[in-house]
Amino acid sequence: MQAGETRQPCGKLEEPGLQKKQRPEQLAGNESGSTYNNHRCRTMSINETQIDVARASLKLPRHVAIIMDGNGRWAKKRYMPRFAGHKAGVEAVRSIVRYCANKGIEVLTLFAFSSENWRRPEEEVSLLMDLLLTSLQRQVSKLHDNNVKLRFIGDHHAFSPKLSEKIKEAEKLTCNNTGLVLVVAINYGGRWDITQAAKEVARRVRDGEVDCEQIDVALMHSCMALHDLPEPDLFIRTGGEQRVSNFLLWQLAYTELYFTDTLWPDFKEQAFELALDSFAKRQRRFGHTGEQVEHMQGA
Ligand code: FPP
Repeated sequence: MQAGETRQPCGKLEEPGLQKKQRPEQLAGNESGSTYNNHRCRTMSINETQIDVARASLKLPRHVAIIMDGNGRWAKKRYMPRFAGHKAGVEAVRSIVRYCANKGIEVLTLFAFSSENWRRPEEEVSLLMDLLLTSLQRQVSKLHDNNVKLRFIGDHHAFSPKLSEKIKEAEKLTCNNTGLVLVVAINYGGRWDITQAAKEVARRVRDGEVDCEQIDVALMHSCMALHDLPEPDLFIRTGGEQRVSNFLLWQLAYTELYFTDTLWPDFKEQAFELALDSFAKRQRRFGHTGEQVEHMQGA
């Protein structure tokens, strides 16, 4: 988004559950109430890029997105079936969710099942689906008690009616919570996300709601999953692989990437602290020069 560019009317406006803490735009001295991520529709000012930079200097990511890799290898090392690794992975999820909520991180997005994971052996897919369902059944009320707002992204058409129902119930129950927003990506793929946004834009053009010439980054963004939440500041992939694997392709444009060899079931608070330390040391420039950033931060 360029300075001075006019934003398009957004389709599905929703205020993210961030009310409990002081918002970074307040910390950055911006009284206009503008929000970070395009979900309010107004003209973007040059000041806004300065706010991005000022926020970046706060050093704590607002939004962390994680690919939880390494469950299978964790189990194999212990001569256990792969599924035991996924079960241990759920424990790591619990610990990281608790940690993020306590630390004041606003959004945590977890890649629980990719659109490519259907290629796994049928038995593993079925066990993973069961695990997601039972985790939901067991954890939702605890998450609700802890003020966590649950969101699910991905193509839900392929799910069992039971899982779809549970997902809807969980979102409904927690929709007014104001603490951590926990986004679970199931049957999600970044290419799917961009494609469904393109379809929505095409539909609006067909129905005469927008003109072709009006299609821009902001309009596309407003049709993407997570359009109403801050973009991920920090992406973590555990398990040693260094790739994005079709996760949040659009949303990761300016995200800091962090890869660790730690297998997901071993990724506990200490390992997460290392990722946060690495993030805190980085200078985020959003296209500016390092000197400009230092100037904006008042260095
Ligand atoms: C990748 O490890 C992990 C997955 C495909 C599943 C992740 C799911 C969970 C951690 C459990 C459920 C999550 C929630 C949110 C309740 P892998 O199997 O590819 O490991 P490998 O690379 O060592 O084989």
